[in-house]
Amino acid sequence: MNVLVVGSGAREHALAWALSRSPLVDEVVSAPGNPGIASGVGPCMDLPSALARLDTFELVVIGPEGPLVDGLSDSLRASGANVFGPSAAASQLEGSKAWMKEILAAAGVPTARYGRFDDNQEDTALAFLETLPGLYVIKTDGLAAGKGVIVTESITEARAAVRSYLSGEAFGDAGRTLVLEEGLTGPELSLLVLCDGTLDGIPLAPAQDFKRIDDKDTGPNTGGMGAYSPVPVAGNEIVELAMEQAVRPTLEELAGRGIDYRGVLYAGLMLTPDGPKIIEYNVRFGDPECEVVVPRLSSDLAVHLLEAATDRLTSPVVFTDNACVTIALATEGYPHTPRTGDVIEGLEAASALDDVMIFHAGTRGEGNDIVTAGGRVLAVTALGDSVSNARERAYEAANLISWPGMHYRTDIAAGVT
Ligand code: AMP
Ligand code: GLY
Repeated sequence: MNVLVVGSGAREHALAWALSRSPLVDEVVSAPGNPGIASGVGPCMDLPSALARLDTFELVVIGPEGPLVDGLSDSLRASGANVFGPSAAASQLEGSKAWMKEILAAAGVPTARYGRFDDNQEDTALAFLETLPGLYVIKTDGLAAGKGVIVTESITEARAAVRSYLSGEAFGDAGRTLVLEEGLTGPELSLLVLCDGTLDGIPLAPAQDFKRIDDKDTGPNTGGMGAYSPVPVAGNEIVELAMEQAVRPTLEELAGRGIDYRGVLYAGLMLTPDGPKIIEYNVRFGDPECEVVVPRLSSDLAVHLLEAATDRLTSPVVFTDNACVTIALATEGYPHTPRTGDVIEGLEAASALDDVMIFHAGTRGEGNDIVTAGGRVLAVTALGDSVSNARERAYEAANLISWPGMHYRTDIAAGVT
């Protein structure tokens, strides 16, 4: 079969790469794709050109949240395509954090206490802040590429954030409605669940993401600076608890509102002393989580995504025992004002290492060079027989790559065996 993957990041590169290895798949076309996909996986074209030949694809996989929130899966389904990706209505789980919190409350899912405020409610928002126990969390209601969240112990910083979000200064319209939450503590876990429109889903192997820009979890939040899987703290009991207390009740609550969920539901959990709580839902594969979960699959991703898109998930989802680590290489200035256009050196040497995959996140071809074209540029990924072994290989590969101002965290998966 022919598959269309929509998107241009490292997540889509990992998906296209895994799909292209399926015996079922003849060709994977990516729209718009990126230079890494074009040179290693299959053809890339702009989205309108790909959609002009929609009837040649047996499966369409939509990677990023933007087109999902904008209703691309609805319009493609209406044209008869088999689409892996939830509807616009379901995608509001990610498109509006306030709506997501309302769903969680209605479904009785454990989560942080919260309040939702519009731009004419600054005084009430500031008063609500005072009622929170001390770790303050401020979130844009709308999409902000993983950067719209501030977690701070400083009430002064929290107050300033409330003002800059509500005024539109910080994130434009995405922040004019905001969510304030009590801060939770504990290890975080990303659980990606395949869903086929029924009230159950199939959890993939958990991953852990590193959201802050700098080592030791300091500095501003980013889209994710690295990830690893499996996660020793997340045994089967935790996964089952998350399915039972969060994912299934959420799918049921959505179904009760006439919303069917077909795609991947990403549950962002915090393992608090009171049990797992939902921090967020995303309506797509995590990035960089996808880059460490998908390479560990031993069953066929194309089969699973096609089953979810067309009928029911029936084939068993099976993972290998190996581990995977990915490291995001970022440009100077990320996440605020990323500098782009620098020539990337060392890509070939790094990709030649055993069990190393370099997924492109923000690159562009310029003559014979590959240059930086986004904040997160590459997801340098390695498999190994343990997390520490995969980590060593990933850093060995990362150390071979360079451009002016490149930076990455040195503590991804540190101390995990
Ligand atoms: P989100 O985009 O909602 O996942 O938030 C991004 C990151 O902010 C999360 O991965 C957490 O590290 C942190 N965060 C979000 N909500 C909370 C919370 N209620 N308590 C503590 N940290 C949080
Ligand atoms: N890595 C976090 C996300 O994909 O939202």
